[in-house]
Amino acid sequence: MISLENVSKKFGTGVFAISDISLTVERGEFVFLVGPTGSGKTTIFRLLIREIIPTQGSVVVNSFDVIKLPNKKVPDLRKMIGVIFQDLKLLHDRTIIENTILPLEVSGVKRKEAAARAEEVLSQLGILEHKDKFPVQLSGGEIQRAAIARALTLSPQILLADEPTGNLDDETSWEIVKLLSDINEKGTTVIMATHNADIVKRLNKRIIELKAGTVVNDRKGHKVNHKSSEKDEKEKPAVTEESRKSTETSSFAKASADKQNREQSETDPKKEEHLREKDKKAEDITSDFEEALK
Ligand SMILES: Nc1ncnc2c1ncn2[C@@H]1O[C@H](COP(=O)(O)OP(=O)(O)O)[C@@H](O)[C@H]1O
Ligand SMILES: [Mg+2]
Repeated sequence: MISLENVSKKFGTGVFAISDISLTVERGEFVFLVGPTGSGKTTIFRLLIREIIPTQGSVVVNSFDVIKLPNKKVPDLRKMIGVIFQDLKLLHDRTIIENTILPLEVSGVKRKEAAARAEEVLSQLGILEHKDKFPVQLSGGEIQRAAIARALTLSPQILLADEPTGNLDDETSWEIVKLLSDINEKGTTVIMATHNADIVKRLNKRIIELKAGTVVNDRKGHKVNHKSSEKDEKEKPAVTEESRKSTETSSFAKASADKQNREQSETDPKKEEHLREKDKKAEDITSDFEEALK
């Protein structure tokens, strides 16, 4: 279980990357973390693996109080969480199998055992045939698969995928998302950060929407079951069409109020121009997500 309670993170520059975020993700959930660039998605991931410490609030992952965790326990926390970084962080002077073996080596797994495990994951992800190639010799989709393989070698309970479809065409993006969904079906909690509204539209999963560092919407997904029964009706999320619309309206209303407040407080024309551009981008993406939520 992942829990953030009233979490804020202010960077040295004075920027609040996230402000007063509270959310819970249950074990085994699949969650899309959506929002425009700069809305705080990566910051949340960095907080979960204790790459950074929040300015305020509490972060709990399973039994770990992430903020109070002694340094020597941080590797235990990180073993539970596989991360597919936005910039992948694959080592370019090592082959795919060497990259996949790395987390195992660092955790002290013996070379032979590590190699066998790495081959197993590469085969699960359909890229075993590329194991002796260097990252530069692979296609975008294959590289993304290699990054997923490396994140999975230690069989983490939680998988964080930061914009894993960022540089991929539609078809390859869809393959990667289906792969993450399969991994989730086998029991791993998956949180995928994205600003790809098309992908989000195609899967009926929970969507947590961020805007300027706050949660503006949290829509539960539900399993589409064509053999509808009374039991299924009962299991449907408590969010009715009406309550959902009203939540959306209120969150979008809040976002536009924030925008107004900012506009009133800003007088520097350059800053205003920058904010207008930012808001325009946010509006475009928000309308894509409004579409997705219909
Ligand atoms: N290390 C940092 N120092 C200063 N500001 C940062 C830092 N990291 C992120 N930010 C700022 O925090 C906000 C959220 O960033 P981030 O979490 O990377 O957003 P996202 O992943 O949604 O694009 C942005 O305004 C960004 O510029
Ligand atoms: Mg990011």
